[in-house]
Amino acid sequence: MTRLSAALGDVLEIAIGTMSAWELAAAPILLAGLVLAGVWAARRDFRSYVQLLRRGFAGALLLVGSGAVVVGWFVCFDTATITGTETTPAAQTSWILSMALFSAGVSLLSGVAAYALGGWLSGAVNNDGRYNLIIAIDGPAASGKGTLAKRIAAHFGYAWLDTGLLYRAVARDVLATGGRLDDVEAATRAARAIDAASLADPALRGPRAGDAASIVAKIPEVRAALLAYQRAFARQPGGAVLDGRDIGTVVCPDADVKIFVTASDEARARRRFLEHQSRGENISYEELLADIRTRDARDQSRAIAPLEAAGDALYLDTTNLDADEAFEAAMEMIAKRTKCRET
Ligand code: CDP
Repeated sequence: MTRLSAALGDVLEIAIGTMSAWELAAAPILLAGLVLAGVWAARRDFRSYVQLLRRGFAGALLLVGSGAVVVGWFVCFDTATITGTETTPAAQTSWILSMALFSAGVSLLSGVAAYALGGWLSGAVNNDGRYNLIIAIDGPAASGKGTLAKRIAAHFGYAWLDTGLLYRAVARDVLATGGRLDDVEAATRAARAIDAASLADPALRGPRAGDAASIVAKIPEVRAALLAYQRAFARQPGGAVLDGRDIGTVVCPDADVKIFVTASDEARARRRFLEHQSRGENISYEELLADIRTRDARDQSRAIAPLEAAGDALYLDTTNLDADEAFEAAMEMIAKRTKCRET
């Protein structure tokens, strides 16, 4: 150990001894620049930055390591490279390798510092040092995804967006201006002008609004207009839960956890029936079952962002689960997907 630290000390002494004042000043400036650039990147888009770090470091270490070996072998035949030092090719190679490892370590440390600082500043890491998640819950009509998403959001203290409401509101606004639901221009205009405050409208909850929503939801321009809003919502500091049809596939393909909620047609229609009954609304079970089947077919067959599970989604069949059991099962899935982050 003492031999190792003595050797490292020698290496540093040689390195520092051979550097000019400018070179010595450049190193911390470069390091500070690296950290600041990292913090800036992490604040703008923490998740992409984390991915970049993960992929980048493996590549960078490989490059620095192999580059150092190559450079080392070339340089070791030029004894004038390290001025004022009696040296041998073997000593030069080990010096180059040590420097390479040293700079790889420094860049790793600066990345980690930027990661932590950027995460903290962007709010992606909360006060307890835990990482705030994006949770995507997708599934067909009345599968219980809304109830589940709301509960998960409340549990973690995250924001929740029922993205179906956006499409319902677009349909409502088109109809309110006397337009037709398949009028691309009118629907796109309504999607661009969507007002988050109007999503609380109870009129959006009924089966007719759901059916109308699935018609405007087929229009690519409408989906594109709503995409930025949904992504901005997902990336807000503090974590977010979004439920819909295409969250795990299109809106947040980089979500930390993706759950695809399913249930039999009959179970879903029964749930919707009880929901409407509790609000004193008189809609028959048969009507709701037919609405669910029509909408599922339309949502699954549309050309853009159809209803489908992401390749990395976990399936949750809630046919025989009540709301508590579905929540417990979902929490287990979240723990499984995020255990390395200690959520
Ligand atoms: O609550 P429910 O599952 O019945 O419906 P919703 O989530 O409010 O969605 C209403 C309709 O909006 C769906 O049938 C889809 O056509 C459309 N939608 C969509 O295309 N993409 C989403 N992310 C959410 C809803």
